[in-house]
Amino acid sequence: MQGIIFNALEEFVLENASMEVWNNILDENELASGGSYTSGQSYDDNEIDALASTLCKKLDVTLATGLGLFGEFLFEFLLTRSAIEIRDYKTVQELLSELESVIHRDVKRIHPGAYTPLFEYVPSTSFAGILTYRSKRKLCMVAEGLVKGAAKHYQQEVKLDHTQCMHNMADADECVWEVEFS
Ligand code: HEM
Repeated sequence: MQGIIFNALEEFVLENASMEVWNNILDENELASGGSYTSGQSYDDNEIDALASTLCKKLDVTLATGLGLFGEFLFEFLLTRSAIEIRDYKTVQELLSELESVIHRDVKRIHPGAYTPLFEYVPSTSFAGILTYRSKRKLCMVAEGLVKGAAKHYQQEVKLDHTQCMHNMADADECVWEVEFS
């Protein structure tokens, strides 16, 4: 996982807890990186998993809830702190339609070592559609949070119905949501 995601997690902890909590989370885990993360570099996925679960235990929330809240926070963080230039989208639907072909593609162009998830958004009307997510990391709750964060940014309401989840269905290799926007 790219360092920028770890940087976002640190900022999330500083906003919702404190530097002391972040340092404790680092100390409680054996991290090959030593707990210092540079934006454009890649780190082992196990580190983000370990840090996120320690954080959720400390905040006394489920992992799903914590990852969702982090995803919501992450959207604005990526928008303002990532090296990727984001077009002036007017709606989340527009952004989702280019998430795969433009945004995450750009992540790979700039960071050839990056592993990005696969997203597909198929609109059924201009206010609704089907979102599909596929990734070895199975971070669907982060994805859901990112969509909510995007909705907040574009001042829209969003309803997400997670109709298929990789975590609940042994033979499912993708997550699916029915999405509705205001
Ligand atoms: C609603 C919008 C978005 C969704 C649903 C989304 C989804 C995700 C998810 C779920 C991940 C975690 C990795 C994985 O699942 O394998 C991820 C990683 C990432 N995304 Fe997005 N994303 C969105 C918008 C953006 C934007 C706006 C940017 C850049 C400005 C961005 C840049 C990145 C980067 C740099 C990573 C890390 C890749 C890596 O670690 O190799 N994303 N995205």
